[in-house]
Amino acid sequence: MRAHTLRGAFACTLSLAVAMGCQREHSDSARSVASTPAAAGAARALEQIDGRTPLPLLPMMAAHQKQNMREHLQAVQEMTAALAIGDFGGVKRAAARLGSSQQMTRMCEHLGARAPGFTETALRFHETADTIGVAADRQDRDAVLTALTRTLAACTGCHSTFKQRVVDEATWNALSAPARYVDGH
Ligand code: HEC
Repeated sequence: MRAHTLRGAFACTLSLAVAMGCQREHSDSARSVASTPAAAGAARALEQIDGRTPLPLLPMMAAHQKQNMREHLQAVQEMTAALAIGDFGGVKRAAARLGSSQQMTRMCEHLGARAPGFTETALRFHETADTIGVAADRQDRDAVLTALTRTLAACTGCHSTFKQRVVDEATWNALSAPARYVDGH
């Protein structure tokens, strides 16, 4: 329990720092769209149309998560560019950006702290991405493509399951943590 709390706090500080940078840049446009009744009604309508499972996130976490996602897509772009010219070193470097690491695990635990199943799905995805690097080491183009295909299936699988739900601090605190956080696992 304590280790999770500490790790969560670390990841949170990280996302705070990143997201505060973004917030400063966009604060004017944020003020103009925030909290008009029409905007709130439109957000409610979208919430009803989109039936995926909500991933509750504080605003800064939500901004950080989407930034992380765009970096994932960029890594895939770099990977296919490298594969096209037979640059297996480049494939391995790009794959490492999607692979498992302590920092990635901490971030996924933090982002999934109010969404049962999210962290597990995310960690399985990173483990699948690890297999791309293994195939690149063997300089096996077909195996790289197969591992990339399985990795992309993990991207699309999660996208069809979860949607972001941006919540305020009070709502966040009122939401219960998934069981693994309560019992310390
Ligand atoms: C464990 C879940 C999960 C995995 C795995 C995952 N994503 Fe996402 N991704 C999300 C969620 C949740 C959103 C927000 C979707 C929403 O609210 O509509 C998102 C959004 C995105 C976005 C939109 C970003 C933006 O700025 O709006 C991109 C691009 C993206 N993901 C790319 C990827 C790619 C590429 C992969 C795999 C290499 C991937 N994602 C894997 C959960 C995941």
